[in-house]
Amino acid sequence: MVACRVCSGSVDEFLDFGRQPLSDAFLDPGEVEKEFFFRLAVGMCGNCTMVQLMEEVPRERMFHDSYPYFSSGSSVMRQHFESTAEEFLRTELAGPDPFIVEIGSNDGVMLRAIDRAGVRHLGVEPSGSVAERARAQGIAVCTEFFEADTAAAIRAEHGPADVVYAANTFCHIPYVESIFRGVDALLKPDGVFVFEDPYLGEIVERTSFDQIYDEHFYFFTARSVRAMARRFGFDLVDVRRLPVHGGEVRYTLARTGARRESPAVAELLAEEERKGLATRATVTGFATSVERTRDELMTLLRGLVSDGRRIVGYGATAKSATVTNYCGISADLVSGVFDTTPAKQGRLTPGAHLPVRPAEEFTAPYPDYVLLFAWNHAEEIMAKERAFREAGGRWILYTPKVQVV
Ligand code: SAH
Ligand code: TYD
Ligand code: ZN
Repeated sequence: MVACRVCSGSVDEFLDFGRQPLSDAFLDPGEVEKEFFFRLAVGMCGNCTMVQLMEEVPRERMFHDSYPYFSSGSSVMRQHFESTAEEFLRTELAGPDPFIVEIGSNDGVMLRAIDRAGVRHLGVEPSGSVAERARAQGIAVCTEFFEADTAAAIRAEHGPADVVYAANTFCHIPYVESIFRGVDALLKPDGVFVFEDPYLGEIVERTSFDQIYDEHFYFFTARSVRAMARRFGFDLVDVRRLPVHGGEVRYTLARTGARRESPAVAELLAEEERKGLATRATVTGFATSVERTRDELMTLLRGLVSDGRRIVGYGATAKSATVTNYCGISADLVSGVFDTTPAKQGRLTPGAHLPVRPAEEFTAPYPDYVLLFAWNHAEEIMAKERAFREAGGRWILYTPKVQVV
């Protein structure tokens, strides 16, 4: 039996992707032999309904000094975090001498605007590569994993925080009890813990199974987050749906009884109930859709290649590791992947070993089809590469359904 990392209940597996590599472990050709694999499978807790991975990858294998994901690579995301910062500055951080701690601050994409406003802040970011990028811009960062001890040390040195914020990071952290103890040690009595992560409701609705990979340990719903919060002395006081990364929810937690619950919480809980989101039938139905998507995508790719078409990938995303390795997409189908990240270029994608090439080389010459792995940035990328489509090229998407556009 696998025990739930939140409540120790029994986790029932509903989807198994088999042997998978680390999603952000881009390889030099000489490193292929010693590649690390684990079993990627997902289940739902029979007690608290939290959807989670069946196997945990040790955190140091994923988050380290050559972590290659730089959050500032998308202008839409830079804009998103700029407005997030502005909202905090107008609301939670509007009192005297405010202080905000960000868990997983990456390259400073959010804290940059906080720093510019002269507000006290600290990023907690274990991956040296990205932490260094933030520090070079004057942002305060401590290169550690956030957990109970780190939080206590921050509290001792800087005093209590008005906000603890985490974007696309809390779902990466299996050890939630230590996180909540840390947040409790750090927050002012009326402070808030705010986090935003991919929403299970959207993943199911769009069959975006590529959101499932080593780093994404949890797949939250309002229901599972509320149960988790209660267990550790917090209330879920607000939820807000966000359009980024294919559909997320921003959850706001406050200490039990400290704040009034927004009507949005009951609304989202009711919607989840109505849709039967946290039911065995829904998650097994999702697993069936995932298999169908794989089969449709592979039929399309094989057909195009046998007709002599050239296909490349766009966006060497962490998500794409699940797609390429689960579907079996090798370099004879998709000859390479274009990406703007220098730390990924010239390397091979994990498991499938597709060569990653600089995005600037995409034009020379254009392929016939592009499989858009960074589908969450579709608008931004398609606008940037408008000339490709004008030249007769076509995009292949696999979420919400397999289609050529
Ligand atoms: N907040 C950014 C980064 C998301 S990527 C954004 O939304 O774009 C997730 C980040 O969390 C990585 O930079 C990783 O190094 C960091 N991380 C992983 N585990 C962590 C932990 N226990 N404490 C703090 N940061 C962590
Ligand atoms: P993203 O989808 O944000 O995250 P994840 O790796 O967690 O799945 O990754 C986007 C990738 O796409 C990243 O490697 C940068 C790349 N990219 C481009 O090459 N061009 C672009 O215009 C954008 C927005 C991203
Ligand atoms: Zn549980």
